[in-house]
Amino acid sequence: MKLEEIAGRTFEFARERFPVAKLNAESMLTKKVVPVHRMSWAYYLGGLALFFFLVQVVTGLMLLFYYQPTVSDAHASVEYITQHVSGGALVRNLHAWSSSAMILTVIVHVLTTFAMKAFAKPREITWVTGVFLAMLVFGFGFTGYLLPWNQIAVNATKVGLQSIEAVGQYLPGEMATWPTFVRETIQGEAAVGQATLSRFYALHVILLPFLVAGLLGVHLFQVQIHGMSCGVDVERVGTEKFFPFFVIKDLSVWGVAFLVLFVLGLCLPFESFFAYPLMEPYDPLGSTPEGIKPEWYFFFVYYPLELLPYWAVMLGMTAGTLGLLLSPWILQNASRRTLRAIAIAAATYLVVITLFGQSIYEVLKGVSP
Ligand code: HEM
Repeated sequence: MKLEEIAGRTFEFARERFPVAKLNAESMLTKKVVPVHRMSWAYYLGGLALFFFLVQVVTGLMLLFYYQPTVSDAHASVEYITQHVSGGALVRNLHAWSSSAMILTVIVHVLTTFAMKAFAKPREITWVTGVFLAMLVFGFGFTGYLLPWNQIAVNATKVGLQSIEAVGQYLPGEMATWPTFVRETIQGEAAVGQATLSRFYALHVILLPFLVAGLLGVHLFQVQIHGMSCGVDVERVGTEKFFPFFVIKDLSVWGVAFLVLFVLGLCLPFESFFAYPLMEPYDPLGSTPEGIKPEWYFFFVYYPLELLPYWAVMLGMTAGTLGLLLSPWILQNASRRTLRAIAIAAATYLVVITLFGQSIYEVLKGVSP
């Protein structure tokens, strides 16, 4: 293919995905409509994910006033926030509950936009930025988990980093050392220690928020420019005006979500789900306590790693992630019926492994992992 042909196609691709000529704030607000059909509830999920992200930013900034990112003071500063700062326990619980709520909402947002084929042309950029947003949101979970520097935080992080390094055994020659280099770069020193805590802290409160804000800007710009996809295979789909009707409903959903978060933050401390001594300060000389597991949203890979050969899980994860990223191209001719079936199968796997992973493990292995 000649160079000008490639340039021409690239320009055409960009012009269709970023039709800036269509940019007109007045019409985007007054003329924009939202399709009304049986899956319309899914159009609130992106907004809800945005809401939980904003709760994370606000409660995270408040926690920064007291949190000490040092191995000597991290755990004590979190204890101080919970027990001595007025409203500290509530803010910490809101941050913890909203992090789980955000990840759950993003997962359902991925499954519904996939089932609705909302990745189809011209929304490929919306989808690809979305997939990277999902990776960053899981990155928030992984880095935030270490910051309280308690037994479960440090030991679960060690296991996570070791599973990165284990890839090396399947790579040829020089490449076999790359995963070790990645683990050492993330860890910053021989063992999980001050350098690791400083790096996870910098990732959690600076790099990831900026990356998410940037990607979200492109994501929402694309949604504003292309509008909501129809999402269902029916002839006549009703519509409602985006402004003010959909916006008012979106904000009402945010209001209900905040109420639920607030009640959970007040009445159900996140820590109550962790048995003693998991919330105790990390003791580098002590033995690893029982029950070390990652957060619930990593169970979809944690239990397969405990039950299946490592290479099989890594192959599945790589194929799954690449398949998701390239969905707009490899599934452009797929019917919504097929996509719905794939989304339902994925949702069933996620629900079963998250809720029953422990029991499945005990049945198959006869012991607790
Ligand atoms: C921090 C995470 C995210 C936020 C805050 C977010 C926010 C939004 C918002 C506000 C919308 C418009 C309303 C809606 O359709 O729900 C939207 C649409 C969309 N999002 Fe996301 N999103 C996130 C992650 C993702 C992920 C992980 C994916 C997919 C992998 C994704 C794919 C899409 C698609 C394809 C649309 C267009 C929907 C349509 O036109 O029907 N988003 N997103």
